[in-house]
Amino acid sequence: MAAEKLYLILLIFFNHLICLYSQQQEAGFVYNGFGQAQADLHLDGAAKVLFPGGLLQLTNASTQQMGHAFFKKPYKFDSSKKISFSTHFVCALVPKPGADGGHGIAFVVSSSIDFTQADPTQYLGLFNISTNGSPSSQLLAIELDTVESAEFDDIDKNHVGIDVNSLNSVESASASYFSDTKGKKESIKLLSGDPIQVWVDYEGSLLNVTVAPLTIQKPNRPLLSRSINLTEIFPDQRMFFGFSAATGSLVSYQYILGWSFSRSRTLLQRLDFSKLPQIPYPRAKKEQTSPLLITLLLLLVLIMLVVLGGIYLYRRKKYAEVREEWEKEYGPHRFSYRALYKATKGFDQDGRLGKGGFGEVYRGTLPHVGDIAVKRVCHDAKQGMKQFVAEVVTMGSLKHRNLVPLLGYCRRKGELLLVSEYMSNGSLDQYLFHGKNPALSWPQRLVILKDIASALSYLHTGANQVVLHRDIKASNIMLDSEFNGRLGDFGMARFEDYGDSLPATAAVGTMGYMAPELTTMGTSTRTDVYAFGAFMLEVTCGRRPLDPKIPAETRHLTKWVCDCWRRDSIVEAIDTRLGGEYSEEETEMVLKLGLLCTNVFAESRPTMEQVIQLINQNLPLPNFSPDSPGIGVSTPVLLDSVFNSRSSLAPSSSPPSPHNSMFVTHTITYGDGR
Ligand SMILES: *[C@@H]1O[C@H](CO)[C@@H](O)[C@H](O)[C@H]1NC(C)=O
Ligand SMILES: *[C@@H]1O[C@H](CO)[C@@H](O)[C@H](O)[C@H]1NC(C)=O
Ligand SMILES: *[C@@H]1O[C@H](CO)[C@@H](O)[C@H](O)[C@H]1NC(C)=O
Ligand SMILES: *[C@@H]1O[C@H](CO)[C@@H](O)[C@H](O)[C@H]1NC(C)=O
Ligand SMILES: *[C@@H]1O[C@H](CO)[C@@H](O)[C@H](O)[C@H]1NC(C)=O
Repeated sequence: MAAEKLYLILLIFFNHLICLYSQQQEAGFVYNGFGQAQADLHLDGAAKVLFPGGLLQLTNASTQQMGHAFFKKPYKFDSSKKISFSTHFVCALVPKPGADGGHGIAFVVSSSIDFTQADPTQYLGLFNISTNGSPSSQLLAIELDTVESAEFDDIDKNHVGIDVNSLNSVESASASYFSDTKGKKESIKLLSGDPIQVWVDYEGSLLNVTVAPLTIQKPNRPLLSRSINLTEIFPDQRMFFGFSAATGSLVSYQYILGWSFSRSRTLLQRLDFSKLPQIPYPRAKKEQTSPLLITLLLLLVLIMLVVLGGIYLYRRKKYAEVREEWEKEYGPHRFSYRALYKATKGFDQDGRLGKGGFGEVYRGTLPHVGDIAVKRVCHDAKQGMKQFVAEVVTMGSLKHRNLVPLLGYCRRKGELLLVSEYMSNGSLDQYLFHGKNPALSWPQRLVILKDIASALSYLHTGANQVVLHRDIKASNIMLDSEFNGRLGDFGMARFEDYGDSLPATAAVGTMGYMAPELTTMGTSTRTDVYAFGAFMLEVTCGRRPLDPKIPAETRHLTKWVCDCWRRDSIVEAIDTRLGGEYSEEETEMVLKLGLLCTNVFAESRPTMEQVIQLINQNLPLPNFSPDSPGIGVSTPVLLDSVFNSRSSLAPSSSPPSPHNSMFVTHTITYGDGR
């Protein structure tokens, strides 16, 4: 009896054990990462568990790889019961940067775990060319295929398929899921590298496959649903569950992160996403550049820097300017050297208009301004520059139709550049003294004389302040396109350097045009009148006021005109190039007016306003004769000092001293005393 009881107890105990075992089998397994699962798994090929996270790597991104991972224990299904199973896993297919990925992962139900004869690439590590399609394979696979293989009628290179003993899927669809919230299909990119959830459910001969991104709950509608008789595929109802993956010439990293499996859908344990291992994302490998190339590149950069630096320094030097604090207020009148350099095409000799005592004059064209003349004046003096620039700017504000408009200036080391409007017909002296130009007719000359008288009168009385020209002479008179006289170069005389022998306040100008009192009294409107007188004689006689090449008796123009007049043949002094075509009355008036203006006694000279009245014959000339005091006197005192310091020309015979008070009492009066 006791033995019977013991037997019964034992029987019940074993029954319990069997129940427990089968319950455990029903419950299945769950792996949140495969760190602890290695003992339960059969791995082959490239498959391995990566630590520390326990990530199951089926393939790395090497070519022609395959890897398998199977739960070691096969599942044996009871022939009396219907077969069912459920699985949920998370996988990731990570492309290699810069390359198309391949080939894919498959969830595999198989009667065997020996895949040594299988091939990688499109065979996914499951079949070879002879086993594909053979029922003896006893294999069901859910493929996540990332390559479109035409030989297996693949629909695209991003699809999910159900394979029964063959890679020609019995059912397939582009990877996507039905979003229950949005109510529409959303596609999934298998090779995005992001984790993807896959559910495979088999129950009542219906196989459902569902995929979704990690962030999505299991969708209600499966992607694939297919009636499959597993008993047909696996006659002895014994099967292994696991994964296979392969690469070919196309490669990707293929991983399983977590896996839950159960015979029963209701008992399937949840995956804990927080415990899933991290996916190592490969960084784009940088092209290995050889040190030689780097060195060469660096060298190139260095050379370029040196060249650019050189160009920069060269240009800086080439276009260097002198600019001082006080010049700020003259900003608008300041031209950049660079602009002038460009305007004159680099001060091209072809554009040179002339060369004078001050420097050279070039023609140029400035955008928005038009034709210009640029005068380059050499100077070293620092002193007086401020005053001079101030004057230049003042001149720029003078407006008169017979002035050459001064546009502005630029300063460089040892050089000053003055910019004025370009006068198309050049300077007057070229028509008076150079045979190549046609001689000007008398009416033209008279117009020019009147023009200059008008300009000078404006400078003396018409502007806000008295402006002295200081250097009136034919070469400073410009002719515009209509042969109107234009007074240019005002203020320049101050700039001309006659050497250190003269005091800073000393008068400067051009010999023959310089009033005798210049050295003692300095410049005044009267000295300008004197120069204008000499200029009138010059224009009428076609001769410079003082010509060293001419014999001493007739060298001084004022004296010679006066002599001619005394001999009662004043016409003798008139320019022969006029060919006798002139009004005797006008030429005589102009010559006499010239003599009046060159009176050695400053107070006896007319003012410029009076000159205008006289030259327009609105006023009669005052009564005077060649012998009137101060008339027709050359100025040897000044000339001596100049000639002695510059050349060794002999002084002419001494005339009465111009400072003799006796002459001062004989002041000439103009007009009717108004
Ligand atoms: C990939 O794995 C194979 C062995 O399975 C190994 O020989 C190869 O070096 C690995 N390649 C990389 C890129 O890790
Ligand atoms: C395919 O695999 C089978 C065994 O699974 C093997 O007998 C056969 O030789 C293989 N064929 C090729 C072409 O590899
Ligand atoms: C498969 O999906 C269908 C709906 O398409 C559903 O009725 C059936 O219950 C599902 N079966 C399993 C095993 O999930
Ligand atoms: C499945 O196949 C087996 C063997 O071929 C057969 O006996 C069984 O009736 C089939 N079941 C269904 C539901 O078709
Ligand atoms: C004077 O200028 C005008 C206009 O620019 C020109 O047509 C003419 O030829 C010039 N005359 C001389 C003599 O240069």
